[in-house]
Amino acid sequence: MDKATIICRCEEITYEEIEEVIGHGAASFDDIKRLTRCGMGACQSKVCSHLVLQVIHEITGKPLQEILLPRMRMPITPIKIETLATNSTEFSTVKSVLDELELEDGKVK
Ligand code: FES
Repeated sequence: MDKATIICRCEEITYEEIEEVIGHGAASFDDIKRLTRCGMGACQSKVCSHLVLQVIHEITGKPLQEILLPRMRMPITPIKIETLATNSTEFSTVKSVLDELELEDGKVK
C-alpha cells in the first residue's frame, strides 16, 4: 500500500502515520487512536477500523484474530434526543456491535 494512502478519511490519517506509531510500539487500534486521532472522526471508526486492523496485521505479522477490536461507545449511530428523552424502545439500532460478535476469551472467533 502507498504510504500516502488515507486510511482514516474522517481524520485524514495516512498509512505512513499509522506505520510510524506502530514503529513506536502501538499494537492495537486503541493505541493508534490515542496517538493519531484515527477513528475519532464523524463515523466513529466504522469506515477505518477494518483497514487499521489490516495495517497492524501487515506491519506486525500478528494474526487478525489476535488484534484487539476498537472500543465502541454508545450511541453507535446518531439518534434523536427525543428518542433518549422518551426512553423509546422503537429504536432497535441502539445496541453494541459486540452483541453481534461471537467472542471467545475476549477475541473474535
Ligand atoms: S474513517 Fe476513521 S473515524 Fe471515520
